[in-house]
Amino acid sequence: MKARLAVFASGTGSNFVSIAKAVEAGQVEADLALLFCDNPQAGVLDRATELGIPAVAFSPADCESRTDYEQRLCTLLSDYRIDLVALAGYMRIIGAPLLVSHANKILNIHPSLLPDFPGRDSIAEAHKAGVAQTGVTIHYIDEGIDTGPVIAQEAVHVSPGEPLSVLEERIHEVEHRLYPSVLQRVISGFKEA
Ligand code: GRF
Repeated sequence: MKARLAVFASGTGSNFVSIAKAVEAGQVEADLALLFCDNPQAGVLDRATELGIPAVAFSPADCESRTDYEQRLCTLLSDYRIDLVALAGYMRIIGAPLLVSHANKILNIHPSLLPDFPGRDSIAEAHKAGVAQTGVTIHYIDEGIDTGPVIAQEAVHVSPGEPLSVLEERIHEVEHRLYPSVLQRVISGFKEA
């Protein structure tokens, strides 16, 4: 049976689309069973509709408390029988209930070579710092922000004087290729286990 994958996203969803296309093409052997979005206005929800992928959206503001929000997420993953979660531009920390229910089953993508430039605006910060290279990291999550065991990293060299927008575009290109291939590697590991 195929692994049932959920993507969590908060924004435009270009990584969600790249994962969905890789699933469709058979490059990621999973059922993309759910998109969860914590912002009912986010563009990624339109992408899910266009692609015919089930989507659920609610925000902590729709819940009685942070604990209630976390509990609803646990119930959601259980209802959709989700094996693996890919965070793709999901702008919140994952709380204890999900970390326990899906231990070592939640991945995140981050646009820098962690531990450098964690948090928001990583590409702009690396660009401003004038680094010669930055890149993309995919890691399992833990209770921290952009911490947790690294699964894969790919470096992106920064050309002197390169505009930020060009660097952003090149990093996103790497993200869209690397995330599906890492997901497939992780899913293949499930089958061997
Ligand atoms: C990506 O750069 C990802 O690495 C970061 O948030 C961004 C999400 O972009 N965590 P998108 O919504 O997938 O286009």
